[in-house]
Amino acid sequence: MKVTVVGAGNVGATCADVLAYREIANEIVLIDIKEGLAEGKSLDIWQKAPIDLYDSRTVGATNDYKRTAGSDVVVITSGLPRKPGMSRDDLINTNAGIVKSVTENIVRNSPDAIIIVVSNPLDVMTYQAHITSRLPRTKVMGMAGILDTARYRAFLAEALNISPKDIQAMLLGGHGDTMVPLPRYTTVAGIPVTELIDKDKLTAILERTKVGGGELVKLMGTSAWYAPGSAAAQMVEAIVRDQRRIFPVCVKLEGEYGIKDCYLGVPVILGKNGVERIIELDLDKEEKALMEASRKAVREVMDVLDKLG
Ligand code: NAI
Ligand code: 2OP
Repeated sequence: MKVTVVGAGNVGATCADVLAYREIANEIVLIDIKEGLAEGKSLDIWQKAPIDLYDSRTVGATNDYKRTAGSDVVVITSGLPRKPGMSRDDLINTNAGIVKSVTENIVRNSPDAIIIVVSNPLDVMTYQAHITSRLPRTKVMGMAGILDTARYRAFLAEALNISPKDIQAMLLGGHGDTMVPLPRYTTVAGIPVTELIDKDKLTAILERTKVGGGELVKLMGTSAWYAPGSAAAQMVEAIVRDQRRIFPVCVKLEGEYGIKDCYLGVPVILGKNGVERIIELDLDKEEKALMEASRKAVREVMDVLDKLG
């Protein structure tokens, strides 16, 4: 299997590293616009192979998309990260242009690839990649929900003083402050989370999750990369190994959840064809209202992109 990661910055290089050391693909191409960066980072990852004992081959390229030809999966991380005071949506002007040109190059060289978008604003960059690629919606998706649920699960594990391995969670909506974590669908080793934690503590964790990206931007002056890189690699793994895993993934909705023509995070089955199925949860009134608020927020940013042409 051949996987390309576009953008050899923090998230892209981390994703390529995880793909390599977990041997998720046998060939991993890292590509960036900045001269030498992708070549250097892929060489560094390759030189780690004898230490960490893997044989996935990493190669780097500067803007040479011929090197990416025939990729099975492409992860797009190219674009500006958030800086303090910026929302994910502030990135739209620059990142839309980058995602558009990258997608054109990818589709030209790997017409059968499945595309996973990571660049922000995530839901709208997924829209950009989808319309540029002209691929079916099942083959162009965005990574956000795995990261957002991971943050939620990590906070819960800390509060309950238990292993994060035992926490299962689902989340809907856009990758922003209007994301919809679902306590009703959160379990700890099968036990509903509401039986283990009091309401106020859970509410505080849900609120911290919603601004989880911003918390890291404030601390580091740029956005996160370890968890985002691993989350993207987990999606690649589900596809290349046809695992049929269930994850929250950003995809175009065409009537699911009563929503049309909007890109939002929903639970999907991920397998060799990309999004194999969208799972529709039976939401209660309050959850539906939160989902609608999230849809509106994403739609507003999609409209900004439409106006940019
Ligand atoms: P970074 O600045 O470390 O890396 C971005 C890389 O993209 C740079 O190396 C840059 O040279 C490259 N690049 C820019 N234009 C390019 C082009 N036309 N072709 C190829 N490469 C190009 O940024 P970082 O931290 O890796 O973040 C990348 C993106 O991912 C940002 O938009 C960030 O907001 C987003 N992000 C999304 C997350 C999510 O949950 N969806 C989580 C974390 C970050
Ligand atoms: C994150 O959630 C900023 O989207 C980025 O870390």
